[in-house]
Amino acid sequence: MPSIKIAEKFGIDENAVIFHGSCLDMLRDIPDGSIQLVVTSPPYNIGKEYEKKLDLDTYLSQQAKVIRECVRCLSNNGSICWQVGNYVKNGSITPLDIILFPIFRDLGLVMRNRIVWHFEHGLHCSRRFSGRYETIIWFTRDTKDYVFNLDPVRVPQKYPAKKYFKGPKAGQYSCNPLGKNPGDVWDIPNVKCNHVEKTEHPCQFPVELIERLVLSMTNKGDWVLDPFVGTGTSVIAAIRHKRKGAGAETEQKYVDIARKRVQGAIDGTLKTRPMNKPKYDPLRGGNKPVPPPCEDIKGYHQMELLEQQGDYPRGNS
Ligand SMILES: C[S@@+](CC[C@H](N)C(=O)[O-])C[C@H]1O[C@@H](n2cnc3c(N)ncnc32)[C@H](O)[C@@H]1O
Repeated sequence: MPSIKIAEKFGIDENAVIFHGSCLDMLRDIPDGSIQLVVTSPPYNIGKEYEKKLDLDTYLSQQAKVIRECVRCLSNNGSICWQVGNYVKNGSITPLDIILFPIFRDLGLVMRNRIVWHFEHGLHCSRRFSGRYETIIWFTRDTKDYVFNLDPVRVPQKYPAKKYFKGPKAGQYSCNPLGKNPGDVWDIPNVKCNHVEKTEHPCQFPVELIERLVLSMTNKGDWVLDPFVGTGTSVIAAIRHKRKGAGAETEQKYVDIARKRVQGAIDGTLKTRPMNKPKYDPLRGGNKPVPPPCEDIKGYHQMELLEQQGDYPRGNS
């Protein structure tokens, strides 16, 4: 893709846009109904370095402004995917998808899935179970004609050789030879220190997560928009699959990273974790637990815990 240039402002004839500034300023330049997929992970209002913690009502009214503008830009058969986790205050969690849902509903959108994105790395909590999932809430307009292409995102069948054993189809394969629907629980590694895509941004999402949305909710040549683009992940997923991608980001250092990564995607040099690559399993990978060098370390129960484990893969089946 050598001819693609990364524009600094949205223009309908561009292919890739990384806008430095507030998303509302970029959205103003986007024509009504021109975007096929809006996909984003907004700030969660939890005091990360790139956000100021607000009271929840102020946060929600700021989100509502952005969501309203995104809906204006959305095509009639387009999709909006908002990827969020929890707002946390004094140890009390508020799932953001629950409190954002009424904003989308009141704009006339219909929810198609609440996708649970499960991952295995993150903060270790001591007063509640550690959070190991976030969600993607997917909305379309109230129409039967929204774009949803299942075939490009099918995953391998669990029993691909299973056949009908009686009836008119006896002997034929009983499952779809193209693979199965990936379902609404996605087990995809999050971007932590050993991930090939890791940058200095604290909350990047993995390219493969967005590739699945881009492939199923858009067609070649369509626009994908991320109002809080961070390191450019959504634009990368779009460009990879011959869509057009635009994103806004307020922090100069992330804009620089986004432009560099998008350029890598254009040149074909950006390394990403491939879609559908099986997760690393430490036992299958031969990474056997070993006792600590000194047997009598007080409180070291890891070996006992591991001995109690059944002989089944951990995490998921
Ligand atoms: C959760 S991060 C998104 C990370 C992104 N998904 C990625 O893969 O890199 C949210 C980003 O929104 C940016 N941001 C905050 N307010 C913004 C605004 N009003 N307009 C555009 N970007 C904003 C933050 O600087 C931050 O990088």
